Amino acid sequence: MLKICFVCLGNICRSPMAEFIMKNKIKNLNLEKDFYITSKATSKEESGNDIYPLAKKTLQIHHIPYQLHSASTIEASDYQKFDLFIGMDINNINTMKKLFDNDPENKVYRLLDFTKLKKDIDDPWYTRDFEKSYQEIDQGCTELLNILKTN
Ligand code: 4NP
Repeated sequence: MLKICFVCLGNICRSPMAEFIMKNKIKNLNLEKDFYITSKATSKEESGNDIYPLAKKTLQIHHIPYQLHSASTIEASDYQKFDLFIGMDINNINTMKKLFDNDPENKVYRLLDFTKLKKDIDDPWYTRDFEKSYQEIDQGCTELLNILKTN
């Protein structure tokens, strides 16, 4: 089983959207027994909070099922618990590399580096463009899953 943790700053917008988008793709392919998917924050700002309402609404528009969520923060001890940590922007990557002793097992990646875009997923908390975040996260998850399926 491959264990993937999606990571963003607050764990209420981008990384929970990625978690539930990816879970939906995995379910549709009947691969649920092969993957464990979750999401966490680099900050403690939103600890314990549910998915942000506009992120939930965007998931609903696209018919992506989601469950009750409680934002939590990554810790150094998480490094051995997961195979991959997928950050949304370069700040997430830099924070994780510091926390994880410079990532000796190469587990830390930026989501859109699996696509042609090779850029950050801007924080919709600030841009307010949740649809753009959704589209980019969906594209990133599709490409990531394609790579993982064939490996
Ligand atoms: P996220 O968005 O990193 O996509 O979950 C944010 C949500 C809240 C905050 C920052 C980013 N905040 O600072 O409270």
